Amino acid sequence: MPAILIVEDEAKMRRLLELNLGEDGFTTFSAGDAEAGLKLLRENPIDLVLTDLKLPGMDGLEFLQTIKRQNAAMPVVVMTAFGSVETAVEAMKAGASDYVLKPFSLTEMRMVLHKELDVRNLREENRSLREALGKRYAHPNVVARSPKMQEVLATVERVAPTNATVLLGGESGVGKDLIARAIHEKSRRASGPFTKINSTAIPENLLESELFGFEKGAFTGAVAAKPGKFELADKGTLFLDEIGDVPPATQVKLLRVLQEREFERLGGTRTIKVDVRLIAATNKDLREALEQGTFREDLYYRLNVVPIDIAPLRERREDIPDLVNLFISRFTGESGKPVEAISPHAMQILVNYHWPGNVRELQNIVERACALAKGSVLEPADIHLDIRPAKVANGASGFLPDGMTLEQWEDEMVQEALRRANGNKSQAARLLGLSRNALRYRLSKIGIPDEGEKEP
Ligand SMILES: Nc1ncnc2c1ncn2[C@@H]1O[C@H](COP(=O)(O)OP(=O)(O)OP(=O)(O)O)[C@@H](O)[C@H]1O
Ligand SMILES: [Mg+2]
Repeated sequence: MPAILIVEDEAKMRRLLELNLGEDGFTTFSAGDAEAGLKLLRENPIDLVLTDLKLPGMDGLEFLQTIKRQNAAMPVVVMTAFGSVETAVEAMKAGASDYVLKPFSLTEMRMVLHKELDVRNLREENRSLREALGKRYAHPNVVARSPKMQEVLATVERVAPTNATVLLGGESGVGKDLIARAIHEKSRRASGPFTKINSTAIPENLLESELFGFEKGAFTGAVAAKPGKFELADKGTLFLDEIGDVPPATQVKLLRVLQEREFERLGGTRTIKVDVRLIAATNKDLREALEQGTFREDLYYRLNVVPIDIAPLRERREDIPDLVNLFISRFTGESGKPVEAISPHAMQILVNYHWPGNVRELQNIVERACALAKGSVLEPADIHLDIRPAKVANGASGFLPDGMTLEQWEDEMVQEALRRANGNKSQAARLLGLSRNALRYRLSKIGIPDEGEKEP
C-alpha cells in the first residue's frame, strides 16, 4: 500500500486526512511542521508527500524545494487556502505535482492522490523495465534519440495496451499528432479506426454535431441522419486535438461520454454506447485555463489520467541530426532531387537554431532546402531560417523571439550574416560590425570551425 506523508499544522485537518486516507488503505505518516516532515522522509519509505503551504518555521514552499533537491522524483501535492492560488502556482513552478485548494472535498483529494501515484508508478516501472532490458524504445517514423523522447516512447509503450485516456501536451509542432498515432498503432485497437477532430478547425455550432452526430431534422439543414466522430471511432481511437478550445457546453457533454461511455445524437433519443479510446492534445497550459475557469476541472481530471508532455525541440537538440536526415531522405524521394547529405556546417546551424515552430518548422526548412539546393549536399547557403522576430511573445514587437536568449539571438545573427555573405567571413564580419578576430571567436563558440577564408 502506498505511503503518504501528511504535513499540516492544523491538528484537526491533519487528523481528518490521516483517518480518511488510512481508511482508503494508504499508510500514513504525519507531521505538524516541515522539519518533522523531513525527518520522517529520511526514516521511512514514502511514496508521496501531501503538504500545506502555510507552515510554522520552514514554510511549505521551502519544504517542497528541499524535498525536490534530495529526490526530484518524489511527488509532492500541496494544499493551499482558496484565494491564494498564486502560491500554488509558485509551488507548481518549484516542482509540485499538483495542488488542492482548501476547502476541498475528499473525493477531489483522492482523485489527485491516485493520479499522482499512478503517474509515479508508471515512471518507475518504465525506468526499471528499461534498466533491466537495457532497452531503447523505437517506433517507425518517430525520431527519439534524446532521453526526453525515449521517456515519451517508454510511456507510449506502457499505456498503449490499456484503455487509459491520454493527455498530450507540448508546443505547436512538437509531434503530438505523431505520438497520438503511435499510441493507436501500438494498441490492441490498431486494426480499428483512428479518428481525429480538431476543435479549432470546426465552427463552434458544428462541433457537437461533428462529435456526436445528428438525427434527420435535428436542425435546419439536417436532411439526413449522420453519425458523429464518437460513433465512427467505435473499437478504435478518437483523437481530440486542441482540447483547450472546446466551448463549455461541449465540455459538459464530453465529460458525460468519458464517464458513461454513452451519448445521444443531436435531436435523437436513442442512447448510443461506444467503445472508444480517447487521446486529447493541447498546446496550451490547461492549468491556466482551469484557474481562469474556461476549462472544467472535472473534465481535466478525467482527461489527464496519463499525461505525456513532449518537450520543445530546443530542449532536445540531440534529436535534430536524425530528424534532418529523415527529412532529407523523405524529400529527396519525393522531389526526385539528388540531395543526398548535409554538410557539417549546415547541420551545425540547424542544431543551434532555437526552433520556435519545433519539428514542423525544421521539416519545412529542410524541405525548402532540398527543393532549392544547387548541389547534392546541403550547404549553409541552402538553409533559410526564418529569423525575423515573427513569433514574438505577447505581441511585444521588436523583442526577442519566444524562448530565445540574447546569446542565441546573437548566434543566429552571426549565422545569418555568414549566409548572406555566402560564407565569406570577412564580409560577414563587416555586416555585423565585428572585427575578423571577434567573428572567429564567435564562430568557434557556436561550433563552426573557421578554417580561413573562402572567397566567393
Ligand atoms: N520525433 C519525431 N520524429 C519524426 N517526425 C516528427 C517527430 N516529431 C514531429 N515530427 C513531424 O513533424 C511534423 C509536426 O508534428 P505534429 O503534427 O505531430 O505536431 P503537433 O504537436 O501535433 O503540432 P500542432 O500543435 O501544431 O498540432 C509532422 O510532420 C511529424 O511527422
Ligand atoms: Mg497536431
